[in-house]
Amino acid sequence: MGTRAVTTRRSFLAVAGLAAAGLAVDASTGHRPQRAVGRLVRTAGGRQVRPREAPPAARPGARAGAVRLVAEPATVDLGGRTVETWTFNGELPGPELRLRAGEVLRARLENRLPAGTTVHWHGIALRYRMDGVPGLTQPAVRPGEGFDYEFVVPDPGTYFYHPHVGLQVERGLYGALVVEDPDETVRYDHEAVLVLDDWTHQVGASPEATLASLRRSGMRHSGQAGGHGHHGAGTAASFGPSSPLGADAGDVRHPLYLVNGRSPRAPAVLRARPGQRIRLRVVNAAADTAFRLALGGHRLEVTHADGFPVRPVTGDALLIAMGERYDVQVELGDGAFPLVALAEGKDAQAFAVVRTGRGMPPRPGVRPAELDRWVVTVADLDADGAVDLGRRRVDRTHRLVLDGDMATYRWTINGHAHHGAAPLPARQGERVRLVFENRSPMFHPMHLHGHTFQVRRAGERRAGPRKDTVVVRPLERVTVEFEADNPGRWMLHCHNAYHQAGGMMTTLAYER
Ligand code: C2O
Ligand code: CU
Repeated sequence: MGTRAVTTRRSFLAVAGLAAAGLAVDASTGHRPQRAVGRLVRTAGGRQVRPREAPPAARPGARAGAVRLVAEPATVDLGGRTVETWTFNGELPGPELRLRAGEVLRARLENRLPAGTTVHWHGIALRYRMDGVPGLTQPAVRPGEGFDYEFVVPDPGTYFYHPHVGLQVERGLYGALVVEDPDETVRYDHEAVLVLDDWTHQVGASPEATLASLRRSGMRHSGQAGGHGHHGAGTAASFGPSSPLGADAGDVRHPLYLVNGRSPRAPAVLRARPGQRIRLRVVNAAADTAFRLALGGHRLEVTHADGFPVRPVTGDALLIAMGERYDVQVELGDGAFPLVALAEGKDAQAFAVVRTGRGMPPRPGVRPAELDRWVVTVADLDADGAVDLGRRRVDRTHRLVLDGDMATYRWTINGHAHHGAAPLPARQGERVRLVFENRSPMFHPMHLHGHTFQVRRAGERRAGPRKDTVVVRPLERVTVEFEADNPGRWMLHCHNAYHQAGGMMTTLAYER
């Protein structure tokens, strides 16, 4: 594989930008942002983003793009720190995969790790046998063996892929998956993908040791894990501009926070020209860190949430929790600007530079004023009319109480940890409502596989955004609805890696 010539105007612009004066990730980072894997064939039919009535099927004429993903140990330079870790194809992030809605993604996974692994395609409404959840949709792929993933990508948007095994994501096994919209309506000159991460492996404790210490000490953290206050009731009262997720926004202080695999000391640099409109596709691949993103001297126009278009909202900063993706557009000024992702509640930040002209590079520790102005959150967003599920009778409601035992670090849904509960039932064709009730003092980004739900706000007629990952803040109740249009066995879990490992997961299952 490798960079492939691409045939669409959109991609041509992006590739041209990379080669010429446009937006690119600095060559010194070694990160190659353009990896077309799809033959970019226009598919029949109208907008691909409409809610589906049927499970995804290959569209007539859709062609397949093939990619090889080798899960392997590698030495990675995080910018001033070199670590021995696990990667896809030796890169951090792994290769950026790119194709168009309606096309078939064929990915050959080769496992050269000393442990079983899988690839999960986060946010994609694919056929469930390809969903990459060991024990649920496939056996883990053993060391030395491989697996062929092959599925249609039905909906455009920004997605990512990662294993669904233990804490493997925390070692750097992740990459962006961009599904382009054949009927793209938003206009921009260039785009770039930003993958945010929190990092501890080989710089601090390993992810596994971090989990063990959380289990040992409960929420009274020792050493590197946390150490920033205690949990208690009443946290919800402390939401505010400075703490949009409540007083306790994470369990683990990580030694490094990364943008595209780079630490603030040797940051990724995005280059463009003044006056250009850039589209940033932002993915939060972190274990335990929500980020507040801002670009110094600029405002952000939020156009998509978890891949799906929203009515555009322009704010100063953007809150992005683990497992979430947002697309934003920015019209660039002239100079060198700090792109900062503040680690919520952790007094640290990830950092990159956007450069359109001359000028001193911004300092890695700079805190743009935008971070403390209007922070756009899920509450500000509503689905674009083309993807609004609309109102209809709800056929089935599942109530999901989220809680945690702070002494044992056991995280539960309706009192059950891991797969202790029977799968949540549904029937194909039903409108299903999930009501998340958070009784714990921490926020949980709840992620449903295989579907994109619509967030409903109590007592409001507003649409709410389409999403596959929704933040449920401490002591808050959040309602979402989805169409049961993709039969299979699907995970529903918290995307905090340590909460998930601590048990906060269940399944939804229904048949055709
Ligand atoms: Cu990105 Cu089940 O997760
Ligand atoms: Cu959680």
